[in-house]
Amino acid sequence: GSIWEEYSQKVQDLMNNPKNQGELTEEDAKRLGGELIVADFGAESCGDAVRLYWIVDPKTDKILEAKFKSFGCGTAIASSDTMVELCKGKTVDEAVKITNIDVEKAMRDTPETPAVPPQKMHCSVMAYDVIKKAASLYKGVDMESFEDEIIVC
Ligand code: FES
Ligand code: FES
Repeated sequence: GSIWEEYSQKVQDLMNNPKNQGELTEEDAKRLGGELIVADFGAESCGDAVRLYWIVDPKTDKILEAKFKSFGCGTAIASSDTMVELCKGKTVDEAVKITNIDVEKAMRDTPETPAVPPQKMHCSVMAYDVIKKAASLYKGVDMESFEDEIIVC
Protein backbone atom coordinates (compact mmCIF):
# COMPACT_ATOMS: atom_id res chain seq x y z
CA GLY A 1 0.00 0.00 0.00
CA SER A 2 1.02 3.62 -0.30
CA ILE A 3 2.25 5.72 2.62
CA TRP A 4 -1.02 7.64 2.30
CA GLU A 5 -2.91 4.64 3.70
CA GLU A 6 -0.83 4.77 6.88
CA TYR A 7 -2.65 7.93 7.97
CA SER A 8 -6.18 7.71 9.36
CA GLN A 9 -8.94 9.67 7.66
CA LYS A 10 -9.22 11.75 10.85
CA VAL A 11 -5.56 12.77 10.63
CA GLN A 12 -5.90 13.59 6.93
CA ASP A 13 -8.94 15.77 7.64
CA LEU A 14 -7.43 17.56 10.65
CA MET A 15 -4.14 18.28 8.88
CA ASN A 16 -5.95 20.37 6.33
CA ASN A 17 -8.82 21.55 8.47
CA PRO A 18 -7.90 21.88 12.14
CA LYS A 19 -10.78 23.10 14.34
CA ASN A 20 -8.80 24.68 17.14
CA GLN A 21 -6.13 26.63 15.33
CA GLY A 22 -5.84 30.31 16.21
CA GLU A 23 -4.92 32.41 19.20
CA LEU A 24 -6.43 33.67 22.43
CA THR A 25 -5.85 37.15 23.83
CA GLU A 26 -6.11 39.01 27.14
CA GLU A 27 -9.45 40.30 25.83
CA ASP A 28 -10.73 36.73 25.56
CA ALA A 29 -9.43 35.99 29.04
CA LYS A 30 -11.28 38.99 30.46
CA ARG A 31 -14.47 38.06 28.64
CA LEU A 32 -14.37 34.51 29.99
CA GLY A 33 -13.16 35.54 33.45
CA GLY A 34 -9.98 33.47 33.32
CA GLU A 35 -6.22 33.69 33.16
CA LEU A 36 -4.40 33.57 29.81
CA ILE A 37 -1.53 31.09 29.47
CA VAL A 38 0.69 31.02 26.38
CA ALA A 39 3.16 28.13 26.16
CA ASP A 40 5.75 27.38 23.47
CA PHE A 41 7.44 24.09 22.84
CA GLY A 42 9.87 23.00 20.13
CA ALA A 43 10.88 19.52 18.99
CA GLU A 44 14.66 19.25 18.93
CA SER A 45 14.66 16.41 16.41
CA CYS A 46 12.94 18.26 13.58
CA GLY A 47 12.84 21.96 14.53
CA ASP A 48 9.06 22.10 14.52
CA ALA A 49 7.26 24.14 17.17
CA VAL A 50 3.86 24.55 18.73
CA ARG A 51 2.23 27.33 20.76
CA LEU A 52 -0.63 26.47 23.11
CA TYR A 53 -3.13 29.01 24.45
CA TRP A 54 -5.25 28.28 27.49
CA ILE A 55 -7.74 30.38 29.41
CA VAL A 56 -7.96 28.90 32.89
CA ASP A 57 -10.54 29.66 35.57
CA PRO A 58 -8.40 30.48 38.65
CA LYS A 59 -11.17 29.33 41.02
CA THR A 60 -11.65 25.84 39.59
CA ASP A 61 -8.39 25.37 37.59
CA LYS A 62 -10.63 24.42 34.66
CA ILE A 63 -9.50 25.07 31.09
CA LEU A 64 -12.31 27.24 29.75
CA GLU A 65 -10.94 27.69 26.23
CA ALA A 66 -7.91 26.48 24.29
CA LYS A 67 -6.30 27.05 20.89
CA PHE A 68 -2.98 26.35 19.18
CA LYS A 69 -0.61 27.59 16.52
CA SER A 70 1.90 25.35 14.81
CA PHE A 71 5.00 25.53 12.67
CA GLY A 72 4.84 21.77 12.53
CA CYS A 73 4.25 19.10 9.96
CA GLY A 74 0.77 17.81 9.15
CA THR A 75 0.87 15.18 11.87
CA ALA A 76 1.92 17.82 14.41
CA ILE A 77 -1.04 19.98 13.36
CA ALA A 78 -3.52 17.09 13.61
CA SER A 79 -2.03 16.02 16.98
CA SER A 80 -2.12 19.55 18.40
CA ASP A 81 -5.70 20.01 17.28
CA THR A 82 -6.73 16.76 18.95
CA MET A 83 -4.75 17.58 22.10
CA VAL A 84 -6.52 20.96 22.38
CA GLU A 85 -9.87 19.23 22.03
CA LEU A 86 -8.92 16.81 24.84
CA CYS A 87 -7.79 19.70 27.12
CA LYS A 88 -11.02 21.67 26.94
CA GLY A 89 -13.16 21.45 30.07
CA LYS A 90 -10.50 19.54 32.03
CA THR A 91 -8.69 20.89 35.06
CA VAL A 92 -4.99 21.64 34.64
CA ASP A 93 -4.13 18.59 36.76
CA GLU A 94 -6.29 16.38 34.55
CA ALA A 95 -4.79 17.88 31.38
CA VAL A 96 -1.18 17.06 32.32
CA LYS A 97 -2.19 13.40 32.41
CA ILE A 98 -3.02 13.44 28.69
CA THR A 99 -0.24 11.60 26.82
CA ASN A 100 0.68 11.32 23.18
CA ILE A 101 -0.85 7.82 23.25
CA ASP A 102 -4.23 9.37 24.18
CA VAL A 103 -3.82 11.82 21.31
CA GLU A 104 -2.92 9.07 18.84
CA LYS A 105 -5.85 6.90 20.00
CA ALA A 106 -8.27 9.78 19.58
CA MET A 107 -7.11 10.18 15.97
CA ARG A 108 -7.71 6.53 15.02
CA ASP A 109 -10.51 5.64 12.63
CA THR A 110 -11.02 2.26 14.33
CA PRO A 111 -9.58 1.01 17.64
CA GLU A 112 -7.27 -1.41 15.77
CA THR A 113 -5.79 0.86 13.10
CA PRO A 114 -2.96 3.24 14.03
CA ALA A 115 -3.59 6.90 13.20
CA VAL A 116 -0.09 7.63 11.90
CA PRO A 117 2.93 5.63 10.69
CA PRO A 118 5.43 4.75 13.45
CA GLN A 119 8.03 7.27 12.26
CA LYS A 120 5.50 10.07 12.87
CA MET A 121 4.66 9.17 16.47
CA HIS A 122 7.26 11.65 17.72
CA CYS A 123 5.21 14.50 16.24
CA SER A 124 2.47 13.78 18.77
CA VAL A 125 4.98 13.99 21.63
CA MET A 126 5.25 17.74 21.08
CA ALA A 127 1.51 18.04 21.74
CA TYR A 128 2.09 16.21 25.01
CA ASP A 129 5.10 18.28 26.07
CA VAL A 130 3.44 21.63 25.45
CA ILE A 131 0.63 20.71 27.89
CA LYS A 132 3.22 20.27 30.60
CA LYS A 133 4.79 23.58 29.64
CA ALA A 134 1.41 25.38 29.91
CA ALA A 135 0.67 23.70 33.24
CA SER A 136 4.09 24.67 34.61
CA LEU A 137 3.48 28.31 33.66
CA TYR A 138 0.02 28.27 35.26
CA LYS A 139 1.26 26.69 38.47
CA GLY A 140 4.57 28.53 38.58
CA VAL A 141 6.56 25.31 38.84
CA ASP A 142 9.25 23.56 36.80
CA MET A 143 8.10 21.54 33.81
CA GLU A 144 10.20 18.65 35.13
CA SER A 145 8.08 18.55 38.28
CA PHE A 146 5.41 16.69 36.32
CA GLU A 147 6.02 12.99 36.30
CA ASP A 148 6.41 11.54 32.83
CA GLU A 149 3.68 9.22 31.75
CA ILE A 150 4.70 6.40 29.45
CA ILE A 151 5.01 7.77 25.97
CA VAL A 152 5.80 6.12 22.66
CA CYS A 153 7.88 7.87 20.05
FE1 FES B 1 11.00 12.61 18.24
FE2 FES B 1 10.94 10.74 20.15
S1 FES B 1 10.36 12.78 20.26
S2 FES B 1 11.67 10.58 18.13
FE1 FES C 1 8.49 17.60 13.21
FE2 FES C 1 6.34 16.20 12.69
S1 FES C 1 8.22 16.15 11.64
S2 FES C 1 6.65 17.54 14.32
